[in-house]
Amino acid sequence: MTVWLVGAGPGDPGLITVKGLERVRACDVIVYDRLVAPELVDEAPHDALRIERDRLEQDEVNELLVALGRRGDDVVRLKGGDPFLFGRGGEEALALADAGVPFEVIPGVSSLASVPGFAGIPVTHRGVASAVTAFAAHEVEGLDAEALAHTPGTLVAFMGLAGLERLAVRLIEHGRPAGTPAAVVSAGTTPDERVVTAPLGAIARAAEGLPTPALVVIGEVVALRASLRAVRRSAA
Ligand SMILES: C[S@@+](CC[C@H](N)C(=O)[O-])C[C@H]1O[C@@H](n2cnc3c(N)ncnc32)[C@H](O)[C@@H]1O
Repeated sequence: MTVWLVGAGPGDPGLITVKGLERVRACDVIVYDRLVAPELVDEAPHDALRIERDRLEQDEVNELLVALGRRGDDVVRLKGGDPFLFGRGGEEALALADAGVPFEVIPGVSSLASVPGFAGIPVTHRGVASAVTAFAAHEVEGLDAEALAHTPGTLVAFMGLAGLERLAVRLIEHGRPAGTPAAVVSAGTTPDERVVTAPLGAIARAAEGLPTPALVVIGEVVALRASLRAVRRSAA
């Protein structure tokens, strides 16, 4: 009897872990994010209570998990990607810990490397990028653009599509070359995946109209896609 904080993976339902899927199949209650694959929610027992998280504020989710956990149910909290990478899993875990409700974490495949990787972009590559920096970009003006512009290796911006034009301008103003290869991957790992590549100075315009969720990748590794993509597609 516990609460399981489970990572659902980046979009393709096949990318949940074996352990995560076992927990989904055995739960009494599933509290799930809107973005997790519906096929995974369908894996819960037919009589399990299904609660979509997006109708609730974060405090309400925390309280709900505590209340369900105290009731003694097996509760799966199914979250997109990995629960602890821009997933607010830490807040939910703290609420459970503070309330003395037992919980366990089942990590998930984060979009961080899987979404670019599936699109043919390795986020690190020997001799090209030996570091990767992930950051949340929903509030571009609050970012330390100077530090980011000078951070070596690959930049991966989460929630960065809406502010992409401003993000690119700020990075370029602070010294990241406008010609740096960049990509936006929308709905990565799903049949709706769309990938746009362009130099940093032109990426916002190239990505106009792409739907969310979308991940922005900035760095020389993006150029590898030209070689990797062709082989991946022809092997499929
Ligand atoms: C709130 S964060 C959650 C990240 C998640 N915990 C993870 O580990 O991937 C949501 C953001 O992740 C990125 N993202 C998640 N899934 C994605 C996908 N399939 N394709 C593109 N971007 C994705 C987008 O930037 C989206 O706005």
